[in-house]
Amino acid sequence: MRVVLLGTAAGGGFPQWNCTCALCAAAQDGKLPSRTQECVALTGNGRDWWLLNASPDIRAQLTATAVLWPDPGPRETPVRGVLLTDAEADRVTGLTVLRGAPDLKVYAAPPVRTVLAPARGALDRYAPWEWADSLADGGFVLSGGLVVTAHPVSAKTPKYVPAGLAAADGRWVTAYRVEDLATGGVLLYAPCVGAWSHTLDELCEEADCVLLDGTFFTADEMGSTVRSGPGQAALGHLPVSGRNGSLAALARHPRTRRIYTHLNNTNPLVDPASRARAQLAEEGIEVLPDAIEFAL
Ligand code: MLT
Ligand code: MN
Ligand code: ZN
Repeated sequence: MRVVLLGTAAGGGFPQWNCTCALCAAAQDGKLPSRTQECVALTGNGRDWWLLNASPDIRAQLTATAVLWPDPGPRETPVRGVLLTDAEADRVTGLTVLRGAPDLKVYAAPPVRTVLAPARGALDRYAPWEWADSLADGGFVLSGGLVVTAHPVSAKTPKYVPAGLAAADGRWVTAYRVEDLATGGVLLYAPCVGAWSHTLDELCEEADCVLLDGTFFTADEMGSTVRSGPGQAALGHLPVSGRNGSLAALARHPRTRRIYTHLNNTNPLVDPASRARAQLAEEGIEVLPDAIEFAL
């Protein structure tokens, strides 16, 4: 399985378009690497590519990635579909860029499919897509030899979801386990995690690589308005640091390659010279730039 990190920033990207904080200013000046909004492409056979989420930056991400260029026909994209982890704006709005691409298949959990119903109706008028339930029993198989199971990890709902709908089904955020049948390589993709769980420990332990929610390094880095208790999610994201943070959990799985993604512009991990990055390096945990490709 080939995995390309198309983007590694949280919503708004890095630098964030409307922010003058020291980190964003450094990125604006080219002193820190810029990051587009979080999105991944993967393939089992090098021909059929699947997107994990569709970021608002998807057009730039696709045009910057040669393996995702149209080929050989004038409209023959190697992109076969999209696996959505949730319904957040920074995960789904890229679907509007892909509109009109024939035969795309989009996997999402039931509440995500429900809240996207109006958008689905609109997109299907450009080209009918197949909208599948990511949580269907037994998982699903992607062309190219990839077997996928989805695992609910959080009830975090996007701000635009009305309260009644939010409460109707708690399976708003899923993690994906993707296994390449040919190599046996396993990727765990969990770019939004609200709290650590036994399930995540089990999935991490048997994965070769995990891409994990690294939105915030500390629970209060957005300011006191989102301050929360130890091990609690800040704005629905489990912070990296702290006794009950995700770094302590990842440290229990040293045999797994561990990479943080969906980095917010406030997160010191965006600075390779930060103490935070040194702390990660001590545990052998990585933060990678956009456009990195690796194999499993
Ligand atoms: C999140 O990751 O918490 C959301 O994407 C926030 C947002 O940008 O709406
Ligand atoms: Mn986000
Ligand atoms: Zn900023």
